[in-house]
Amino acid sequence: MAKMEDIVSLCKRRGFIYPGSDVYGGMAGTWDFGPMGVALKRKIMDAWWNYWVESREDIYGVDAAIIMNPRTWVASGHTATFSDPLVECGACHGRFRADKIADGITESVTTEEFKALNVKCPTCGKIEWGDIRQFNMMFSTHVGPVDDDSSIAYLRPETAQGIFTNYKNVVDSIYPDLPFGLAQQGKAFRNEISPRDFILRDRECSQMEIEYFVAPDAWEENFEKLLDQNHKFLTDVMGLKSENIHDIEVGEKDRAHYSKRTVDIMFDYPNGQEELMGLAYRTDFDLQNIQRESGKNMEYIVKGSTERFVPHVIEPSIGVERLILAVLSNAYRQEENRIVLALPEELAPYRFCVSPLLKNKPELVEKAREVYDTLRKKYQNVAWDDSGNIGKRYLKQDEIGTPKCVVIDFDTLEDGTVTVRDRDTTEQIRVKPEEL
Ligand code: GAP
Repeated sequence: MAKMEDIVSLCKRRGFIYPGSDVYGGMAGTWDFGPMGVALKRKIMDAWWNYWVESREDIYGVDAAIIMNPRTWVASGHTATFSDPLVECGACHGRFRADKIADGITESVTTEEFKALNVKCPTCGKIEWGDIRQFNMMFSTHVGPVDDDSSIAYLRPETAQGIFTNYKNVVDSIYPDLPFGLAQQGKAFRNEISPRDFILRDRECSQMEIEYFVAPDAWEENFEKLLDQNHKFLTDVMGLKSENIHDIEVGEKDRAHYSKRTVDIMFDYPNGQEELMGLAYRTDFDLQNIQRESGKNMEYIVKGSTERFVPHVIEPSIGVERLILAVLSNAYRQEENRIVLALPEELAPYRFCVSPLLKNKPELVEKAREVYDTLRKKYQNVAWDDSGNIGKRYLKQDEIGTPKCVVIDFDTLEDGTVTVRDRDTTEQIRVKPEEL
C-alpha cells in the first residue's frame, strides 16, 4: 500500500491536487484540483452519473441550489443535531474532536467517559481537558444586504436535502413509477473541527447522493440490492480491489439521527481503514418532516390504485474526494525505477500520449501531429508531449497514469508504423496508427 505522503507529493508534482489557496499559505480543509485532477474528478463523477442515472430507467437527476431556505435545516434536524463533540485543552487551548483523539469512543461520548480515559493532548501532551460541547458544523452566512438573524442561511452540509425538497416537484411533474431514485452531485460544506488525511476529511467537499424512494414494506429488499450495486460500482467501474473494501453495520448509538439501518462501506486508505461511503435507510423521516414544516402533502399515490403513503428512502451517499483518494491509492505503484498510477483506462486523465521521437526533426513532428489529431477526434483526451527525452516522457506519463504512449520515429517514415508503449508492462509494440 502506498504511503499518504507519496500520494500527496505525486498529486502536487503532476498537477492533480494542490492545497486550497496555496499561494497565501493555504486554507485548512480545502483543496484545489489542477489539470490532471480535474480530468480525473470529472471522469469519476461522469462514470457515477452514467452508472446510476443514464444507464437506468428508475433513477433521475436533479441539481438544486446550494443555499436553501433555512427551514430546510430545521426540518431535517441539522440545526439541532448536526454536531461533533468538541473538547478544548486547558493548557494549550488546542481544540479537538473528542472521538478522533481517543480509541474506542464514538461521537456520543460524554465528558465523564472522555475524562476517565486520561487522553493526552495531541499538541502539548498535558491532561487538562474542559467539558465536551456539541459544535454545529454548518457554515452560516447572511443572504441579502442586512446582517441580522432574519437573514441567516447555511451552506448545505449534505446534498440530500436538495433532493428531498424537490421530491414533490418531481412527482407532480414527471410522476415516476415507484420505486424510483433521485440523484444529485454537488458541493457540501462542513465546518469540520479537524480536517485531516489529505482530501479525506474536508471543510468543502463534493457528494454524490441518491435518495431511492420505496414502498414502506419494500425497504429491506431494496437496501440489499443497492448495497450490492454500490459494491459493483466500486469494484467494476472504479477498479477498487474488493479485498480493500469492508462493510460495517453501524450500531444504533452511532447512526445518524435519521437512520434505522446504516452500512458504512470502508476502504483501506494509506493511513488506515476509513469510511468511503454510507448506505442508510432513512425511513420516511425526511418527507414526514418536510410535510410537517411545509404543510404540503408528500404522499405518493400508487398508479392505477387508491393506495397512498409517504415513501420510505434508502440513501447511498459517497464523497467525491474520498472516492478519488481511494482510486489514487488503489492505482499507486512504486517500482524499482518508476512510479506508476495504474488507473482504469476510462478514468485516466489521458488515454494516449503522442510524441515525436525528436522535437527538432520537422518530418517526425509533422507525422506525430497527424496521428495526434486523428486520435483526438476519436478520444478527445490525448496528450501531446515533446519535452525532454523519450525516457523522461514515459516516466511522466506513468505518473499521470496514461495507459499508452505513442511514439513517431524514423521507422514510421519508412513503414508507417508507430511505437506503442504500455504503461503497466512497459512493453513496446509497433502498429499502424489506424489500429490504435
Ligand atoms: N446525506 C448523508 C450524508 O451526508 P455522511 O455520512 O455525513 O452522510 C456521506 O456523508 C459521505 O460524504 C461520506 O461517506 C463521505 O464519503 C463524504 N463526506 C462526509 N463528510 C466529508 C468531509 N468532511 N470530507 C470529505 N468527504 C466527506
